[in-house]
Amino acid sequence: EASARESMYLVSEFAKDYFVNQLTKTELGKAIGLSYFKERGFTDETIKKFGLGYSPDQWTAFTDEAVKKGYQLEFLESTGLTIVKEEKKFDRFKSRVMFPILSMSGRVLGFGGRILTNDKKAAKYLNSPESDIYHKSKVLYGIYHAKQSIAKEDNCYLVEGYTDVIQFHQTGIKNVVSSSGTALTPDQIRLINRLTKNITVLFDGDAAGLRASLRGIDLILEQGMNVKVCTFPDGEDPDSFAKNNSLEELSDYLKENAKDFIQFKASLLMEDAKSDPIKKAELVRDMVTSISKIPDRIKTEIYIRECSRIMDVSEDVLFSTLAQMGKKEL
Ligand code: CTP
Ligand code: MN
Ligand code: MN
Ligand code: MN
Ligand code: MN
Repeated sequence: EASARESMYLVSEFAKDYFVNQLTKTELGKAIGLSYFKERGFTDETIKKFGLGYSPDQWTAFTDEAVKKGYQLEFLESTGLTIVKEEKKFDRFKSRVMFPILSMSGRVLGFGGRILTNDKKAAKYLNSPESDIYHKSKVLYGIYHAKQSIAKEDNCYLVEGYTDVIQFHQTGIKNVVSSSGTALTPDQIRLINRLTKNITVLFDGDAAGLRASLRGIDLILEQGMNVKVCTFPDGEDPDSFAKNNSLEELSDYLKENAKDFIQFKASLLMEDAKSDPIKKAELVRDMVTSISKIPDRIKTEIYIRECSRIMDVSEDVLFSTLAQMGKKEL
């Protein structure tokens, strides 16, 4: 229902302001939350731009304040900001720094909240649950702040996390969004597709990041978009890399290391595959599978030739493999 959704937007906006206020105006918020963000290298300007906040280490501080201001429990609960359990109610986000998640038009849809410790037992990030205003699979963190720049640069950097987006902005690269922990979805890619046909995937320099970038490639190709992949040194992510480098260094790194998807796949597995015929065959098949997702025939043909050249397998065999995959006869 439209008016229920409207109420959910309003309570979410209130929550954002509340968390910002806690971060910037209270002694504990400044001592704990603000100093956390400062340690991560975020400036006041960045913190303000992204509406970063702090939720205090109390069970019902936010909920009490919202109720006092006249917000209805129904909408506090449906947005997930308040958890109601056996007649008791308490704040979902407790003792966390807060990242509001905005729609394309800048409305607050939900939150990610990060713990301040490195306690491996607690979930590092807690996110708002699915709701009538927040559909994880249709939202990209950072899209509101990136949309103009994505169109202008005609390229979109896709990163894993909240802080990757923020640190890129601060360093000076604004055409960047994050799938925020969920596997990239077709709806998320469609959001980008409205702004540019070019995506550069920048995932963390670890095994999970690698798997995630590989999974995303075919989905991007299916929508007729061009995809490049740029990896980071082991143990680094876009946030840490941007934090420790200047805009020029970051731009140079991206320029030098962004590889077309076919080159990326080749370089990734070549080491192993070269001396192992079975692995090489699997890799070639995997590349042709990706190529088979490309709707455009000219691009398909060019990529098949490229694959043939890199992998030293005849074009004929690759084209017939492609045909067997049933997508197209060339
Ligand atoms: N994520 C999540 N829940 C977790 C862990 C991660 O929702 N328990 C999501 C967050 O959106 C996070 C992203 O996945 O930003 C990437 O995860 P990770 O690389 O582990 O976190 P970072 O963004 O690098 O976080 P930080 O630098 O704050 O440690
Ligand atoms: Mn990671
Ligand atoms: Mn990361
Ligand atoms: Mn990180
Ligand atoms: Mn920097």
